[in-house]
Amino acid sequence: MQVNIRGYELYYDVIGEGEPLLCIHGFPLSGVMWQPLCDSLGDRYQLIVPDLRGHGHSEASESVTMADFADDLASVLDAIGISKPVTVIGLSMGGYVAFEFYRRHGDRAGAMVLVDTQASKDDEERVRIRHETAEKVLQRGSGVVADGMIDKLFAPEAPEDLKSRWHEVMSATSPQGVAAALGAMAGRPDSFDTLRGMDVPTLIVVGEHDVITPIDCAREMHQASHSAQLEVVPRAGHMVPLEAPQAFAELVEAFLSER
Ligand code: MLT
Repeated sequence: MQVNIRGYELYYDVIGEGEPLLCIHGFPLSGVMWQPLCDSLGDRYQLIVPDLRGHGHSEASESVTMADFADDLASVLDAIGISKPVTVIGLSMGGYVAFEFYRRHGDRAGAMVLVDTQASKDDEERVRIRHETAEKVLQRGSGVVADGMIDKLFAPEAPEDLKSRWHEVMSATSPQGVAAALGAMAGRPDSFDTLRGMDVPTLIVVGEHDVITPIDCAREMHQASHSAQLEVVPRAGHMVPLEAPQAFAELVEAFLSER
């Protein structure tokens, strides 16, 4: 489905019926990464799966902020007619968006699932690298980022066909969308205060072999939160929902039923 939000065509999918789960993908991926979760939970939950601005089928804007991403998602919920609180599930950059969604639309978030992500903002060196990478992507295409990320996304034992499929998805993401998202990540605020003040059930999930947002990031988030549950998924890297789809779906479902 497609909706025009503040002048940009945004694409989203709605799978199943039941309690709504808003699934926010990582960088520079698309809603397709939630397919295994949709396959597992789609007969019991309603999964709302947007492509963030500039990713997947959604139109890119020249620049974007975490606030834009979060407001786009609130507008997607409006377009579907969902006003009750949803469970927000965000992976990595999707987690950064989830924090911003909580800050700006907290009354619409009933629970949070933060997957392979972190609460800290970028340090100066990281900001510099993000801007430098954005320039390269605009000149040479999104393959620059796909080449740099592919070996860090998955656990060492991940099959080559999984890696090549996601390399393809990342390479196909619009260079303008990738460059804009790099700017959004570089400009994001620290989210530890948000986490400390979060008063909804929260699940933190991290892959044992995540090298992009390693276990320590998840532990720091867990310590900052007064009530979050932390789960470390064995034999998975930064892409737990793709590398351990069944374990991930079971964790989410157990968390939702135990709230
Ligand atoms: C992601 O996986 O969404 C990004 O790698 C996160 C980041 O670069 O900080």
